[in-house]
Amino acid sequence: MLSVVVLISGSGSNLRALLEACNNPLFPVQVLAVGSDQPATGLSHAELFGVPTFVVEPGRFADRIQWSNVLSENILHFKPDLVVLAGFMKVLPGQFVRKFYPNLINLHPSLLPKFPGAYAVADALAAGATETGASIHVVDEGVDTGPLIAQVSVPIEQSDTKDSLHERIKLVERELLVDTLGQIASGEIDLMARARV
Ligand code: GRF
Repeated sequence: MLSVVVLISGSGSNLRALLEACNNPLFPVQVLAVGSDQPATGLSHAELFGVPTFVVEPGRFADRIQWSNVLSENILHFKPDLVVLAGFMKVLPGQFVRKFYPNLINLHPSLLPKFPGAYAVADALAAGATETGASIHVVDEGVDTGPLIAQVSVPIEQSDTKDSLHERIKLVERELLVDTLGQIASGEIDLMARARV
């Protein structure tokens, strides 16, 4: 069984898909806790599934190192095998990343290395791309630059707006997240080996 702590910042639809998958006793992943950098609406999914939550807001700390130290203490309290960023919108300091690497993965709404950063969906549209997608990667000290683990592409339609495209990407992301975590749990994906490439 692979135990995970999930970090979110928003609506948590990917978290929800994971919690639903974990309801199947044959799925080898367990969500120990869900954390956030703000009182995110998505925390309600965790509460519904009886999973503990914690919120560590950067504004309550003198600097981001102190914030990330308390965030990591909250995570380590649960002793997870893996930390999953699923819509967590804060960049984590190198010190935090090094503590968890390579057992820290991120879900991102583009075909990395294309369109890193917080505006990936809008950037793909603005660039006139004909396809984008979803990626999962090991988090390193850059922004969306770590070793890739899995990707799925999504075609961009002429009529797409940022919202319509993001919704289609999220459909793919949910499946990608569940499948990828299942493969990490089964040993099919070895994060240590991926991180060395
Ligand atoms: C996802 O598109 C994820 O890739 C990005 O933020 C979004 C989170 O969506 N980093 P949700 O909160 O899971 O609905």
